[in-house]
Amino acid sequence: MNETYEPVVVTFCCNWCSYAGADAAGTAKVQYPSNVHIVRVMCSGMLHPNIVIDALSKGADGVLVCGCHPGDCHYQEGNLKAEKRGEAIGLILEDLGLEPERFRLEWVSASEGTRFARIATEMVETLRELGPNPFRS
Ligand code: FES
Repeated sequence: MNETYEPVVVTFCCNWCSYAGADAAGTAKVQYPSNVHIVRVMCSGMLHPNIVIDALSKGADGVLVCGCHPGDCHYQEGNLKAEKRGEAIGLILEDLGLEPERFRLEWVSASEGTRFARIATEMVETLRELGPNPFRS
C-alpha cells in the first residue's frame, strides 16, 4: 500500500445533533483524525444520494453521514429518510464497483463527542485498509 496515502473523508453532519456532537469532541479535546472534513447540513434527510455519489466520483475516499438518533430528528423523519437513502447508496456503490465501507451512516447526538470521534477514527482506519478510491486519479 502507498505509505503516503491519507484518506479523505467527506463528513456530512446534521446541524442539530451531529454537528454539535463533533463540536463536543473538539471542546472535550477528544481527538479524531484530521482526514475528516465536516460539512454542516440542516438534516441528514436533506442529503440526496447524488451528493454522496458526487463526492465519491470526484475522489473522496469515503463519505460519512451523521444524523440525530431515530426519534430525535428536528424535522421528524429526516433521519429515517436518510436511512432509506443509505440503502440506495449502497446499491449504487455496488454498481460502481466501490466497496460498501466507503459510505457509512451513523447517529450521533449533541452530547456524543466521544462517539463521533470513535466513528470518525474507525472510518479513517477502514479507508486506510481499503486504499485510495479508484476514482481519485
Ligand atoms: Fe438531525 Fe434530521 S435534524 S437528522
